[in-house]
Amino acid sequence: MKSSLFKNAALRGTENLVDIYVENGLFKQIAANITTVPEGTHVVDLGGKLTIPPYCDPHIHLDYVFSAFNPAAANKTGSLFEGIQRWSETKGSLTVNEIKIRAKQAMRQEMLTGVQHIRTHVDVTDPKLTALKAMLELREEVKESCDLQIIAFPQEGMYAYKGGDELVEEALKMGADLVGAIPHFEFTREDGVKSVERAFELAVKYDKMVDIHCDETDDEQSRFLEVLAAQAYRTGLAEKATASHTCAMHSYNNAYTYKLFRLLGLSKVNFIACPTENIHLQGRFDNFPKRRGLTRVKELHDAGINVCFAQDSMSDPWYPVGNGNLMNILDAGIHIAQMMSMEEIDNALDFITINGARTLNILDSYGIKEGNPANFIVLNAKTGFEAVCNRVSVACSVRKGEFLFEREPEVIKTNNPLLQA
Ligand code: FE2
Repeated sequence: MKSSLFKNAALRGTENLVDIYVENGLFKQIAANITTVPEGTHVVDLGGKLTIPPYCDPHIHLDYVFSAFNPAAANKTGSLFEGIQRWSETKGSLTVNEIKIRAKQAMRQEMLTGVQHIRTHVDVTDPKLTALKAMLELREEVKESCDLQIIAFPQEGMYAYKGGDELVEEALKMGADLVGAIPHFEFTREDGVKSVERAFELAVKYDKMVDIHCDETDDEQSRFLEVLAAQAYRTGLAEKATASHTCAMHSYNNAYTYKLFRLLGLSKVNFIACPTENIHLQGRFDNFPKRRGLTRVKELHDAGINVCFAQDSMSDPWYPVGNGNLMNILDAGIHIAQMMSMEEIDNALDFITINGARTLNILDSYGIKEGNPANFIVLNAKTGFEAVCNRVSVACSVRKGEFLFEREPEVIKTNNPLLQA
């Protein structure tokens, strides 16, 4: 039997420090000052640091990461649509091996900043399904260290790409976990609606979840979210459905949005906002004022609708930077969404932890709770406010009771009295 005792953990929402006893990879006991543990138990002092469930990145494209370094992939307008064009022109030469090498590097970067749960889109508008094959292999290889969900994502359209819908179905048969779609990129509004309906039909048929790139445009006429939400409501998929991006909602008129919110609440769909990518991609066809293009994060959140944040891209034709650090994403997100009251900052970590876990549909095993897998991270802060204010790093990440990594404290050398602690 393997056992560990993590002493002096600060949990969010509790006044006093607790000890966490882990046995065979599960949280066995969480209580103040645990003194009785089996002989041979490994004891670690967390020193009063904030201890939280791992970060979740519920939206990234692991098959695209680091592809921006190909000069042919350069996106000159910085728009979403040129990104899709550049990707389409350059993706033909990909191999399973090189995709896996890039994806693993991205996962390593995310995990070293506290992520243990990732949902990746995979472009299946490729008759050879090369990226899907790479991701299916990777999901199996990394499962002890990180959970990976795979979305069958038709980047060039279910119908705009000939046979796109069939490739999505083939990907589901091969083992993808979710159905994707991109209705705002289809040739016509009717095709967009059809793609959302088809995504739900496939999800029901193969017992999968749905996560759709939905209305990632500044076009206020892009209203596929209402189709998505109505489908989630009518099929009963509800919280197993997710709307990613929904940037057009930023530009909807308030009367329409008011009506829409009733449906969103009824549907129980989750929302993923990608603050850094969308502040970069949106507003590209505006002069001044330039719209931010981020979905209505604060308004959704205040209406009790689940919203989380995600990285989306790391150096691909859509976004030239991105390092997988969810704390950066959170920092950008609360600024752009104007969620900076003291209470909102206190609670901001929810956007990259529990809200992401709810979107990933993993709440039955997520969180620091007796009986759950002993997965957690320790931040270099005492409170949620301090963590977000100082954008702190992760001191360690623990998976099933074992360290994935520990980070040594930063050492500063100085003789300057002002700079000495
Ligand atoms: Fe995306």
